[in-house]
Amino acid sequence: MIEGNFSQLDALYRASGLPPADGLIADLGLSSMQLDDAARGFSFYLAGPLDMRMGPDAETSAEDWVNFAAEKELADVIYKFSEERHSRRIARAIVKARPIRTTTELAQVVTRAIPSRAGLHQIHPATRTFMALRLAVNQELENLQALLDQTLGVLAPGGRAVFIAFHSLEDRLVKQAFRRWHQEGRAHLLTKHVVRPAETEIQANPRSRSAKLRATEKAGAEGSRSGHRG
Ligand SMILES: C[S@@+](CC[C@H](N)C(=O)[O-])C[C@H]1O[C@@H](n2cnc3c(N)ncnc32)[C@H](O)[C@@H]1O
Repeated sequence: MIEGNFSQLDALYRASGLPPADGLIADLGLSSMQLDDAARGFSFYLAGPLDMRMGPDAETSAEDWVNFAAEKELADVIYKFSEERHSRRIARAIVKARPIRTTTELAQVVTRAIPSRAGLHQIHPATRTFMALRLAVNQELENLQALLDQTLGVLAPGGRAVFIAFHSLEDRLVKQAFRRWHQEGRAHLLTKHVVRPAETEIQANPRSRSAKLRATEKAGAEGSRSGHRG
């Protein structure tokens, strides 16, 4: 078990002294344990501190963003990381309601900021804002891009990488990288189309509903599916 930020994959893996890997599975995002622990501050259903830090290396917490970021920066982050169309209204309401200390306080502020004519919400009104803050606090897209940039470097020829993303921004980065590697002949796409959970899996585990799996195989192995020679 090597613990660390996967944006440092190459250095962590080399330091382990292990040979190039035959497989890499990246199960991205948040774990149920984190979501269900009120003290971690990821859930808008559980009252807890506004933390949202996944690991020890996150410098700012969600409370810092909510209480100290400039209104425009907050609106931009909420929009950029969640495509929330009421991002400006929400940022304005957050600034007006400061200081905000807990997850449920923030969820209330966001819910009240979204116009009631926005109709019945299929998802909780605070879902996108919480996701955006989480991505900003943990630099998740930047870390994912760094992980992708180092993936082929730790794989053996013929080694396979499987990425499971849980929202479109993550999946877009994975899709673009896998497609680029394929076009460059560095890896061979194993999933022509994104793989989604079966209905039975969603019923057994509703949190899997947004999962998107993609797989690729590094080029260069004799007889590998890619048929590429080193
Ligand atoms: C979806 S969960 C993995 C769940 C795990 N497969 C299981 O079955 O328990 C994703 C995990 O990745 C961790 N994580 C997120 N970003 C990370 C990063 N940059 N480096 C290392 N771990 C990270 C999260 O803290 C979370 O525990």
